[in-house]
Amino acid sequence: MEDKENTALKWRSISGILISGGYGFIGSHVVRHFVKKYPQYRIINVDKLTYAANPEYLKDIENESNYIFIQADVCDYAKMEEIFRTYKIDAVIHLAAESHVDRSITDPFDFARSNVMGTLTLLQTAKTCWKKENYHKHLFYQISTDEVYGALHFGDDPFLETTPYDPRSPYSASKASADHFVRAFYHTYGLPVKISNCSNNYGPCQYPEKLIPVIIHNIVKRKPLPVYGKGENVRDWLYVEDHACAIDLVFHNGRIGETYNIGGDNEWQNIELVRLLIEITDRLLGRPPGDSLPLISFVTDRPGHDLRYAINATKIKTELGWQQQMNFREGLERTVAWYLRDSAPQPSL
Ligand SMILES: NC(=O)c1ccc[n+]([C@@H]2O[C@H](COP(=O)([O-])OP(=O)(O)OC[C@H]3O[C@@H](n4cnc5c(N)ncnc54)[C@H](O)[C@@H]3O)[C@@H](O)[C@H]2O)c1
Repeated sequence: MEDKENTALKWRSISGILISGGYGFIGSHVVRHFVKKYPQYRIINVDKLTYAANPEYLKDIENESNYIFIQADVCDYAKMEEIFRTYKIDAVIHLAAESHVDRSITDPFDFARSNVMGTLTLLQTAKTCWKKENYHKHLFYQISTDEVYGALHFGDDPFLETTPYDPRSPYSASKASADHFVRAFYHTYGLPVKISNCSNNYGPCQYPEKLIPVIIHNIVKRKPLPVYGKGENVRDWLYVEDHACAIDLVFHNGRIGETYNIGGDNEWQNIELVRLLIEITDRLLGRPPGDSLPLISFVTDRPGHDLRYAINATKIKTELGWQQQMNFREGLERTVAWYLRDSAPQPSL
């Protein structure tokens, strides 16, 4: 493994970091984290601005001298090459993706296009623009998901980095495919890559179509709170800023060619999570305890709905010293408070 001094020297020579999908939920937190913490890096946020993006998320840093936004589709090879050459891109943190499982069931082609072809396009651009003798100064970092590992039963051990891929939805299939291309570029061409697979994120700035923002939004509007099946599906939740810190650690200190699992050690059945959100949101709205409980509405389960995801994050903890900071209840309180602001995003569905 490289010693700390060499690693520090290497990263001092970095100028441009392309962060794709920087106006999305996780991407906006990652961009802010890097822009504020590393003024020596130039952060180039490349985002197509799909329905899930919101430039308001980064209003507070948009005038920073080390930040640039470019509206572009990561599938556009000519544009990616132009960006790499113009901005001297040394490293990529690739988050841009279609990310909603339900949408992937309705329209899988968009997912194959953005998630698979988009990743392949960026990989090919990096391979073309980076000289092989300088590969040690470059990095292609793929942000992936625990969903590529498939589904766990109750009592199964959490996913390890060595768990075979077994994607079940068009979304997870597209992410798995993208990860395979990333590893193929490492083995075939020697491109310096890293991958991390994270569990469900929560926090401010998530488009209100995913579970937590939808539930908060519907409590506010006194609309039914949709819960799939019997609400028994289990997800492992991590605060989005803890994910951004993990990405920072993997980016700087993770080993080339390696995968790191990132998770919250924080498994919740959907129905229990919805009850907790009701408790917090009703209180913050000044409503009586339990006021919104009757709004819970069980709906037909999502086809192929994975029962349980859980991550074993021992590797990133022991090897890189990562530790999540946010307590779940406090993180949810912050999230609910953020969605209760007047300016919070509204669903377009
Ligand atoms: N949300 C989670 O819980 C979670 C967990 C683990 C991993 N991930 C991964 O993290 C990444 C970000 O997820 P998110 O929840 O922030 O997603 P998101 O849907 O909130 O944001 C995605 C962003 O990517 C942009 N984008 C989509 N297609 C693009 C394209 N072709 N070209 C350029 N930009 C494009 C969108 O405009 C948007 O800003 C994804 O790769 C996802 O698979 C998400």
